[in-house]
Amino acid sequence: MSMVDQAGANSTPSSFDPMQEFTRFAEVMRRSALAPWTDAFMQALEQQFVPDQHGDFARWQSCVEALPPVNVSQCDFTADSVTVGTPGDCDDATRQRIETALRGLHPWRKGPFNVCGIQIDTEWRSDWKWQRLQPHIQSLKNRTVLDIGCGSGYHLWRMLGEGAALTIGIDPSLLFTRQFRAIEHFTGPQPVFHLPLGIEHLPPDMHAFDTVFSMGVLYHRRSPLDHLLELRELLRPGGELVLETLIVDGPEGYALVPEGRYGRMGNVWFLPSVPTLLAWLKKMRFRNIRCVDVTPTRIQEQRPTDWMTFQSLPDFLDPNDSSKTFEGYPAPVRAIILAEAP
Ligand SMILES: C[S@@+](CC[C@H](N)C(=O)[O-])C[C@H]1O[C@@H](n2cnc3c(N)ncnc32)[C@H](O)[C@@H]1O
Repeated sequence: MSMVDQAGANSTPSSFDPMQEFTRFAEVMRRSALAPWTDAFMQALEQQFVPDQHGDFARWQSCVEALPPVNVSQCDFTADSVTVGTPGDCDDATRQRIETALRGLHPWRKGPFNVCGIQIDTEWRSDWKWQRLQPHIQSLKNRTVLDIGCGSGYHLWRMLGEGAALTIGIDPSLLFTRQFRAIEHFTGPQPVFHLPLGIEHLPPDMHAFDTVFSMGVLYHRRSPLDHLLELRELLRPGGELVLETLIVDGPEGYALVPEGRYGRMGNVWFLPSVPTLLAWLKKMRFRNIRCVDVTPTRIQEQRPTDWMTFQSLPDFLDPNDSSKTFEGYPAPVRAIILAEAP
């Protein structure tokens, strides 16, 4: 039976023990500055990671399990394409098996990755976002880092590449956990963890992380000020917030609240102007608040590819006027704001 046939199975094999995924995470947590919160994280994972709740999980998991073992000669977490293994690390038949398994995890949104010579051209050039923020943030060397809404985990690997001591990503999407596992299959154990949790599942008042990233999340939160408060409570005093979100042009006090969808996306609540966003952070008592980048999203940065064949930015814009979304709102512009926790 081919892997694709097996993929038709609709329940996760009984041999799959969800909590076993987090054994190493618990061990590393217990040895880290985050030790006091180990049990709280494990409890949250036990409650939230219920693979059978998603009808496709078994198929995704079978793709991860179909990845053949490969002794990779090198990984490069500093390259634009996060690179695990070289073309010489396996023969063509093995590479074909790897590619079939990876394609089973479609749609690949955040990347790019290169796996033993297979280029995963993701919907997003997430490396462009990294290039925009990396020169401005405090060095990640030896830091304990949290990435909220980390997607496939692309930026987690870039954080490791910058020397972070421990990097935790959270994202409730079960597909993205499997994409992370697929890459981790080749990297072997690293101080990088992808947890299927939402920010609301984290222990309150941790005040523990040296750097917290919230990228592409704020506009999905119905209460953006509460989100900023949650971020502050996760950071140690003086820790750095890296906030990336959609913004609109306008004076302090202005925010766009789309009536329905924005760029065909549901669940979009507040798109503030930059002065409004800075004022929100000030109200939440962040310090040293500054906007380091404002960039319109271009169709070269977010587009359909061979690895993400669904609709993408070109379809989300007004076909007659690319300065507007399909619904007539200003086309997407994203800002990066840095701030320090009090
Ligand atoms: C627009 S994507 C951004 C991905 C990545 N951070 C980036 O900037 O490229 C937003 C991500 O937030 C995740 N997400 C949704 N609800 C969340 C929650 N309550 N807590 C954490 N992440 C969430 C989604 O699954 C999605 O992967």
